[in-house]
Amino acid sequence: GARLGSPLVVGYGEGETYLGSDALALAPLTQKISYLEEGDWVVITKDGAQIHDADNNPVTREITTSGVTAAAVEKGNYRHFMQKEIFEQPTVVAQTLSSYIRPLEQTVALPQMDFDLSAIDRITIVACGTSFYAGMVAKYWFETFARVPVDIDVASEFRYRDPVLQPGGLALFISQSGETADTLAALRHCKANGQTIAVVVNVPTSSMAREADLLLPTHAGPEIGVASTKAFTCQLAVLAALAAHLALKKGKLSEADEREIVKHLIEAPAALNAALAHDEEIAAMAHLIAPARDVLYLGRGPDYPLALEGALKLKEISYIHAEGYASGEMTHGPRARIDEAVPVIVLAPSGPLFEKTVSNMQEVMARGGKVVLISDAEGLAEAGDGCMATIEMPKVHPLIAPLVYAVPVQLLAYHVAVAKGTDVDQPRNLAKSVTVE
Ligand code: G6P
Repeated sequence: GARLGSPLVVGYGEGETYLGSDALALAPLTQKISYLEEGDWVVITKDGAQIHDADNNPVTREITTSGVTAAAVEKGNYRHFMQKEIFEQPTVVAQTLSSYIRPLEQTVALPQMDFDLSAIDRITIVACGTSFYAGMVAKYWFETFARVPVDIDVASEFRYRDPVLQPGGLALFISQSGETADTLAALRHCKANGQTIAVVVNVPTSSMAREADLLLPTHAGPEIGVASTKAFTCQLAVLAALAAHLALKKGKLSEADEREIVKHLIEAPAALNAALAHDEEIAAMAHLIAPARDVLYLGRGPDYPLALEGALKLKEISYIHAEGYASGEMTHGPRARIDEAVPVIVLAPSGPLFEKTVSNMQEVMARGGKVVLISDAEGLAEAGDGCMATIEMPKVHPLIAPLVYAVPVQLLAYHVAVAKGTDVDQPRNLAKSVTVE
């Protein structure tokens, strides 16, 4: 075996030796793992492994015990990994938050940094897929709370557009796997251009984790379903804590504000549970969406990335064409597509942006569009009449709304895919981790 570009690990068993892409792949076989370095090559026999580096020198690579057990990669009582992972969210978000907040002191607690966060005056966020949408939500938070300007790009665009990177910037990479080829290449580009590198990753042994100045792990546990769910909400939890911490360091938030934010973050796991309680109801409405050829998702502000994520989830696993739109953009094109055959999913927590989104929703209804409104009791009481269906979310602070509203869009995609009989955990033509360009 040889490692070039993509990760490779050696697993040591009893009279057996294995090669795999990561500890997760080998979890059912062994937990004794060596991570090969870039350029290493290895010969394995049943008795062990001889490893050489890129210059052909014999080397030893530490044998570590991976924390991933076979049980963690089993479905338990769930029908699909994706379903299990959706339902794990209250637990894993709480687990993740416990590394980033001190509940008793009601403060945010980030890992030690060997750079001055308060000096950061520009943030560049780069990611792919669902992780990119977590980054889009974070842009709202960094700008609103810390007043730090944010550039955000999908990694495949960023790495080839010759971005202007000024000294003193923080480049933030978000990735479940920590191995996505385009994101990793973008990280290396930023590093070579003098940026401080922070990563939010779910695999702490990944290439991105190893190359970062600041590692911010999510504690979602192994994510097996190709369509990301729990990694996304855990990324949001970390990013909210980071935004609050940055805002404090920048003097944009008081300690009282910090306590308030921590209080709301602590409420997130219970709110996720309340959202999950609508599972059966969402399963029952899946038949309304399953026959559609196209579905539109609308949201505003931090719920706009959620609309994009909802559309991505649906198309990934049910193969229905779906698009996410900023609700205010409806008039600039998508409105022409509205008819009774195109369900429109509207994400609209009550709050300052609610009226605006509802007026876009009413335009849809006036043109015969069939709306599913996802809002809290207050929002549904005000605007739920005339909708094809409604889903009630708990009333939450706008900061944690994107975490909570992720649940109904995940469940809707899941149940539509089950209704259509597609392969939920391994959708056609997609891979969990894209380690080639
Ligand atoms: C693939 C997966 C997505 C994921 C994306 C980014 O496309 O199917 O679920 O969001 O890669 O992966 P990353 O590991 O970088 O978050």
